[in-house]
Amino acid sequence: HFAEVKASSCCSSTELKRIEDCRDVLGILKPSKKHTVLIDCDTFNNNSRIVPFSGEHKWKPNFVKLPCSQIQSQGMFSQDSRWKQIKKQLGNLASKPTASVRDVAEAILSFNPKYNGQWTFGSLDNFVRCLPRTENYVDRLFPKIAKLALKLPDEVKTAIPLLRSGHVAAITLSQTQIACLLANAFFCTFPHRNTTRPNAEYHNYPSINFSSLFGNRLERKIEKLRAIMHYFNTVTDSKTDLSGLVTFERRLLRKDDEPQWKSCTEKINRLYVTSEGHIEKEGRGLLQVDFANCLVGGGVLGSGLVQEEILFIINPELIVSRLFTERLQDGECLIVTGSQQFSSYSGYSDSFEWLGPHEERLHRDEWRRLQRQIVAIDAVHYRNPRDQYSMGKITRELNKAYCGFKGRLHHDNPDIATGKWGCGAFNGDPQLKAVIQLMAAAKAGRGLAFFTFQDKLLERQLQGMHHLLVTSGITVGKLYGLLQDYCSRLYGGAHLDLFSFLQRALKSDWSHL
Ligand code: AR6
Repeated sequence: HFAEVKASSCCSSTELKRIEDCRDVLGILKPSKKHTVLIDCDTFNNNSRIVPFSGEHKWKPNFVKLPCSQIQSQGMFSQDSRWKQIKKQLGNLASKPTASVRDVAEAILSFNPKYNGQWTFGSLDNFVRCLPRTENYVDRLFPKIAKLALKLPDEVKTAIPLLRSGHVAAITLSQTQIACLLANAFFCTFPHRNTTRPNAEYHNYPSINFSSLFGNRLERKIEKLRAIMHYFNTVTDSKTDLSGLVTFERRLLRKDDEPQWKSCTEKINRLYVTSEGHIEKEGRGLLQVDFANCLVGGGVLGSGLVQEEILFIINPELIVSRLFTERLQDGECLIVTGSQQFSSYSGYSDSFEWLGPHEERLHRDEWRRLQRQIVAIDAVHYRNPRDQYSMGKITRELNKAYCGFKGRLHHDNPDIATGKWGCGAFNGDPQLKAVIQLMAAAKAGRGLAFFTFQDKLLERQLQGMHHLLVTSGITVGKLYGLLQDYCSRLYGGAHLDLFSFLQRALKSDWSHL
C-alpha cells in the first residue's frame, strides 16, 4: 500500500481563490449571436428593471418548442390548439382556492391524453399524505403553480434557442422566467417531450416534463418532492425576491484546442484536500463541479438521488437546463452561473432528507446573478472498471475535465471545488480521477479543492501524492507519460494501485521517461 508522506504541500481553505477575490468586470449586459438574453437589456442596463424581451415567438428549428408558441400550418401562424386546452384546464385549477392531487392529475392528463392509464401520481399523492396537517400548504399551492404556468406567454416573449452539441452558446434568463418554465414542466405542458424513442425529435435531450417524478410510490421521491414543492411555494410567494438572472452556457473544446498532454509543461498547482464537507457548501465561491450525466440532471426527475440529482433538487433552477441542453458530447460542458439554492438537506441517496429552506447569503454580480458557478461535466460510466486504464479513456477524461476547468481567457477565474468525480455511480478509480483532475486544473492554471466525502484514507493519500508531485517538480506531460506506463503495465498483469506506482516511479529516477 501507498506509504503516506507526512509532509504536505497542500494549502488551507483560506488560500483558495474564490469568486469574491476575482476582479472581473462584466460590462453591460448585451445579447450577441452566441448569447441570447431573454430579458430586455436596455431596460436592465438603464434602470435595473427586469422585463421580458419581446421578439419572435414562433416554433422554428433549433429553438425550444413552447406550449404557447405560434405554430405554422398552411403558411399561417396560429397558437397550438393544445395551448387552448391547457389554458382552460389550468385556468380552472388556478381559480380554485385549493386543489387535490386528483385535480392536478386530471388537468395534466387532459392535455396529455395519450398517457392516460400510463402516468401515475402515487409519489405526489404519498407526499401530500405524509405532510403533517399543520404543514399542508400544498392544496393551496397547486392553484398558484397553475397560475404561474399560465403566465408563460407574458414571461417568455421570444424563442429560446437550443444549446446544441458542437456549438458554443449561452442563454441568460430571469429567475421569474425560470420559475414560470418550471411551473410548465410541473404540469407537463412542453410539447414533443414525453417520448425518448430513438427517432423522437428530442431523443437527444433530457426529459423536462415532471410526469416521471410523480409516479411510483418511492420513499426517496417524497423527499425530492418536499424540496421541489418548497421551491414552488417560495417562488409563488409575492414576498420572495426573484430579481436575479441566471446564465446557462455550453462550452466546448474544439479539436484544435485539445492540449497535447504529452508535451504539457505546466506543473501541479495548489490543492486543498479534506474529508469533511461538501462541494456545494464548503466549496462556496469556487467553481463547483457537478458529477453529471451526459443528459444533464441525470435522474433528477426520476428516482436518482446522488450528487448531481441532489444538486438539482436543492437548486431547482438548474432543472430548466434540461429544456434546452442537448446531450453533452466528449469535450463539452455546461456552466451555470447564478442559480439559487432554495433547500438544505442531510444524508445521501436513500438517507437523503429535506431539512428546510436555505437562506441565500451570496452576493450578486453586475448582471444580478448570484455568485454561484456550477460546471456540469460527465465522466465515463465504466461498466467494467478495468476499461478506464487506457490512454484513450484517460485522454477523454482529461479533455472533459479541462473543458470544464478552462477559465475564460484574460479573466480572473476562481479555483475549483471537486471530489470523486465519476467514482460513485460511474465506477471510476478515485486515485486516477484525482490525478486527472489535478492535471486538468494545472493546465487550466487553477487550484483545486478536493472533497473526499468522508474518505479519510483518500484524503491522506492525496495529500501525500500531491506532496510528491510538487516536490518532484513533475510536469503534466511527464505525468501523462507515467500514466501511459501504468496502463501498459497494468495490462501486463501487474496489480498495483496508481498512487503506489507513481510513488515508486517518482522516487526512482524517472527522468528517462
Ligand atoms: N460533495 C462532495 N463529494 C460528493 C458529494 C458532495 N456533495 N456527493 C457525493 N460525493 P456520484 P458519478 C462523492 O456517484 O460516479 C448521477 O446519476 C461520493 O463519494 O454522484 O460521476 C448523474 O446524473 C460519491 O460516491 O457521481 C450521473 O448519471 C462520489 O462523489 C451519475 O450519477 C461520486 O458521486 C454520475 O456518477
